[in-house]
Order: sequence, then C-alpha cells, then structure tokens
Amino acid sequence: MLSNDWIMLNNLKIGIVGCGHLGQAIAHSLIDRGLERQNLLISYRDNPRTYEMLNAQGLTSCLSTNQEIFQEAGIILITIKPQDITGLINFPISEKALVVSCMAGVSAELLYQILGINVYRMMFSGPDTIVSEKGVAAMYPEHEHLKMLLRCMNLTYIKTITEDNLDVFTAGVCMPAAILTTKNPGQQQEAIDKIGKEYPLFSELYLWAIKILPCFQNNIEKEDYVARMITKGGITEAITNSLMEGEPLDIALQKGINQTQEISKGIQQSLTNHLHGMSGIKTISWRY
Ligand SMILES: NC(=O)c1ccc[n+]([C@@H]2O[C@H](COP(=O)([O-])OP(=O)(O)OC[C@H]3O[C@@H](n4cnc5c(N)ncnc54)[C@H](OP(=O)(O)O)[C@@H]3O)[C@@H](O)[C@H]2O)c1
Repeated sequence: MLSNDWIMLNNLKIGIVGCGHLGQAIAHSLIDRGLERQNLLISYRDNPRTYEMLNAQGLTSCLSTNQEIFQEAGIILITIKPQDITGLINFPISEKALVVSCMAGVSAELLYQILGINVYRMMFSGPDTIVSEKGVAAMYPEHEHLKMLLRCMNLTYIKTITEDNLDVFTAGVCMPAAILTTKNPGQQQEAIDKIGKEYPLFSELYLWAIKILPCFQNNIEKEDYVARMITKGGITEAITNSLMEGEPLDIALQKGINQTQEISKGIQQSLTNHLHGMSGIKTISWRY
C-alpha cells in the first residue's frame, strides 16, 4: 500500500531537467518506488547516447521539453552540469513550481540571477547509491516537500543548515569514490580525523561511505562505479585527481570544497559575459 507521502507526491508532477547520470538515477528510483509514469517529465539536450540510455530504462515516454517541465511540474529538479545553466536564463517558470538545483557549486544567489526566482538546492550522493537506496542527500534551505521526496526515494536526509555546509556535504558525498581511489588506505582514518575537526560532516560521511561501499567482482566494475560519480570539471573529479597524484585524503577533500568555489566563480564569469550588454538584469535581491 502506498504511504501518504506517495499519495501526495503523485498529486504533483516531478520534472527532471537534464536527465543524465544523476537525473536518470533519480527518475529510476522514483518510478521503481511508486511514481506513476505520467507524473514524471524529463528532458535531455541532444546526445543520442543519452536517448539510448533513457530508452533502455523505459523512460522515453516521459520525455518533455524544458518549457513543458517548467510550466507543468510541481517539483522541478535541475540536474544539468553547472556550465550549462546559462542555457536556462530567463526561462518562463510557473509560479507554483518548487524549483530545485542539484548542481554542485552554484549558489542560491547565482541561481536567482539566472532564473529570476528563489531556487532551493539539493545535493545527492552518487547515482548508484540512489538506485540502491543507500544514498544520502542534503538541502538548503529545508522544505517539507523535498523531505517528502527523499522519504519516497528511501534516502537518508542529512541536515546541513547553512549553504556553506552544503558545499562541504558536496565534497563529502564523493567519499565512496575517494576511498576507492586513495593510494594510502592505511592513512584514511588519520586524514578524516584531521579534516573532521574543521568539518565534522566529513567524519559522518566517511562512516556512511565505508558502510555502503559495494563489493566489486573486478577492477572494471570498480572503475565504472567511480566514473558514474564523476561529472567533468566537478568535485569528485577534483578529489580523485588529487588522490591519484598521491595527495592525502584531507588535502583532496579540501580541494573538493575549493572546486565548489571555483565552479561558482566560473558560472559568475560566464553569466557576466552572457548578460553583458543585456538590459534588465536582476540585481541580487534573493530571499527565501
Ligand atoms: N554524477 C554524480 O554523482 C552527481 C552527484 C551529485 C550531484 N551531481 C550534479 O548533477 C549535475 C549533473 O551531473 P551528471 O553527472 O548527471 O552529468 P551528466 O551525466 O552530463 O548529465 C547532465 C545532463 O544534462 C543534460 N542537459 C544539458 N543542458 C541541458 C538543457 N539545457 N536542457 C535539458 N537537458 C540538458 C545533458 O543532456 P545530453 O546528455 O543530451 O548532453 C545531460 O543528459 C551536475 O551539476 C553535478 O554537479 C552529480
């Protein structure tokens, strides 16, 4: 029997803008656990391989345009890469929609400048952890409907309180990939103890990562698992690159946090370039 959460969720349409690795994992989890297919609206850009993957998962009947998603969905998850966000500048969005960015490193303030509305932020652990219902997620600020969404997906909600903590969380959920990449497994705990003094979230997420790491039959399986967690130019990539260069886990995690700030700066720059010369740019007056 479906819970009250599911009954409520099926009264809304869920939109996923950018159904790549993360978007597909969320879609898969929602459909598997009880979302009616007609209540899921998804989009991608134009990559034929993405279409093949959506087709293989029986999701092509959910394909919609971004216009439809932004007008018809009650909860809209934006799961594109940060560098693609300028493609959504000034998109008309229904006033009733709860718009949620799942992008690493793009602040609520920047999102306000781009979309002209208050956007919630949610961070998820990697796609495999979502599908296997072992994932964790955080949000900023809190919203009851988003907590309901996590309950429906059977994911653990980790409270982060501030937006800065969301960036720490973003680096922390890369922990499974980091543990699998590190060259000095013996020194992991020491590194976590060190960085955990400044960022206690890392200690919590380290314990989570140890618990949920799957067993791999071979190296290819393991490399594929890590690859699915990596977004080009993203946080996991910054962390795993640092570890592959032989740096300790605490330094790698700090580089992950730094990368969220780099992404933010990069988006701010491309936004400035994009809007250069355009009139009517919103000055920042972002509030929840
Ligand atoms: N992967 C993870 O473990 C993970 C975990 C937490 C958060 N994230 C965040 O999730 C986001 C996506 O990461 P990902 O690894 O899933 O990347 P991805 O596999 O490259 O997926 C991004 C998707 O966005 C689509 N897209 C780009 N521009 C679009 C537009 N204007 N309209 C509709 N769709 C558009 C792309 O379509 P095409 O396929 O047609 O190019 C692609 O399918 C990133 O911001 C990342 O920070 C990822």
